[in-house]
Amino acid sequence: MIRKFRIGDPVNTGAVVEEIKTESAARFPLALDIDEKITLSFPLGENDMIFGLGETVRGINKRGWVYESWCSDEISHTEDKRSLYGAHNFIVLSGAEKLGLFIDYPGKIEWDLGYTSPDEARITLRGTDADLYLINGESEREIVRRFRRAIGKSYIPPLWAFGYQQSCWGYAKPDDFRKVRDSHRENNLPLDCIYMDIDYMDGFRDFTVNEESFPDFGAFVDEMKSRNIHLIPIIDAGVKNDSDYSVYREGHENGFFCTDKDGREFRCGVWPGVVGLPDFLNTKARRWFGEKYKILTDMGIDGFWNDMNEPALFYSEQGLNNALGKLSELADKEIGVWEFFSLKDSVLRLANSPDDYAAFYHDLDGRRVCHKDVHNIYGAFMTRAASDFFEENFGREKVLIFSRASYIGAHRGSGIWFGDNLSWWSHLLLNLKMLPSVNMCGFLYCGADLGGFAGNCTRELLLRWLALGVFTPLMRNHRALGTRAQEAYSFGDTSDFADVLAVRYRLIPYIYSTFRRCADEDEMMFRPLAFDYPGDSVARELEDQLMLGEECMIAPVYEQNRTGRNVYLPEPMKLLRLSGVSVSSEELGKGWHYIDVALNEVPLFVKADKKIPLAAPALSTAELDRENLEMY
Ligand code: GLC
Repeated sequence: MIRKFRIGDPVNTGAVVEEIKTESAARFPLALDIDEKITLSFPLGENDMIFGLGETVRGINKRGWVYESWCSDEISHTEDKRSLYGAHNFIVLSGAEKLGLFIDYPGKIEWDLGYTSPDEARITLRGTDADLYLINGESEREIVRRFRRAIGKSYIPPLWAFGYQQSCWGYAKPDDFRKVRDSHRENNLPLDCIYMDIDYMDGFRDFTVNEESFPDFGAFVDEMKSRNIHLIPIIDAGVKNDSDYSVYREGHENGFFCTDKDGREFRCGVWPGVVGLPDFLNTKARRWFGEKYKILTDMGIDGFWNDMNEPALFYSEQGLNNALGKLSELADKEIGVWEFFSLKDSVLRLANSPDDYAAFYHDLDGRRVCHKDVHNIYGAFMTRAASDFFEENFGREKVLIFSRASYIGAHRGSGIWFGDNLSWWSHLLLNLKMLPSVNMCGFLYCGADLGGFAGNCTRELLLRWLALGVFTPLMRNHRALGTRAQEAYSFGDTSDFADVLAVRYRLIPYIYSTFRRCADEDEMMFRPLAFDYPGDSVARELEDQLMLGEECMIAPVYEQNRTGRNVYLPEPMKLLRLSGVSVSSEELGKGWHYIDVALNEVPLFVKADKKIPLAAPALSTAELDRENLEMY
């Protein structure tokens, strides 16, 4: 049972597609307070747990911290943070009573989940127009299924998008890409995609290709495809402000960019320098931007990643002028400690400043709205520009598309990656913890930058992280410019990497069919053990193991210098040790077990009465034999 309550005149975010009768807010059964903002609150029982909020910090049980829905360019994901790249406003309260809550509101929301007062949840929306949904069900899974039915079926990418993928900010010339391809092939390392970061463009201008580097880009795309490699270019939200660049000119002439309070184009700085921000919330502007992807699909490209679409702002023209003013003001003064701090802040607070998010406006097809009130749908609507175009022109499941920023609703047309992270062990564990939460919100095609984006990765960290990535639908190794090389061939002997990556291809028939079934049946691919074993007090609290599909459980090693780990089995299972072509199987009873896990091994736990299929290893999905499978 799902109930919808409307307050004021909310923006249509497109999150919910099912027709649900709207009730007045006066009938909302939880405490509700509306003045300049909306606050809802409810008591928390001693043992209540709270699941959800998709891509954000901290644990699977969200109780005990204050989170914010506010799409943020936030690399460090440390515990003091409150939000990451996505804004996913769905939680399930799990206690004596179970209840789902979805807040369809695109501005900032604070979720104080037992932080200020341990026995109360207090949720504050920074506005007065929203749709609130309450979902009942017998179990967490039933509530999630009910919610997922309301928000529509999840995106399914092409099969090849389940292959292993390599990315690096810095691959710039055809030979950089050929080297990645050949080094994988020569070392028996499978690979399906290589990513093109901003370096492929002409001066970071969207939908351009650097002609000096790629004189015949279409031929290069074909060359890679003939070796079963898909090239996946990045598209950034900001369009370089340059009157000699046709995309900018068209956007400018048609008034497709966001404007400041006086109606002038809002200017800010991102990778290309000063940019205009396309107004993706405007239908005409969105369609215009979507059609630009054709420039690259015409050259054979069939996959994209949309970036910087929170939107991330390095600075605004106004903010930069203020900071420069401050610098020159202080230039010939004596600088005391307070002047120093104010000087420092004026520079450090330039990026992603709340003042800037309050300084530009959208034209929602005739309704002028300040960005801060709709911030959380900007990235989702950029990705909708692309996914609508792909669906209309190529049909479903033909083009790979995923985004950094997201809002519920975008799960129908695209996947997500978990944005920038670091080569930290804690980020490997956070990667695991985010999987069920984003699945609850419909995002099934997802994954983190394996090995970590920034910072320097080690051989051990990469092997352990890949052994988790083997299970995530998006399995991409990505790193930042100037970081230590972390391609699977960068650490000397490649045989351990070949063993782990072979497991991915052996598992693709299982992972792909599980993924499809979860998309069709509005199911989660990864679930907390608490969802499947609610009566098991140990399983209920475990946050470093997950259920996968209906058959399996995963428990990766996520700490440095560990040769194994403790694993809890909530029921008897077979431990499959997968490594290259080798599989060993051991029956284990319910309870705790210490499991040795070699660096070239992937442990997988299969329920005693179930079996899963394994294919023979392959170097790409195109070469994968999905017919002749062995059951284990
Ligand atoms: C952003 C993206 C990252 C990309 C970089 C350069 O930080 O999140 O993946 O490599 O920009 O384009």
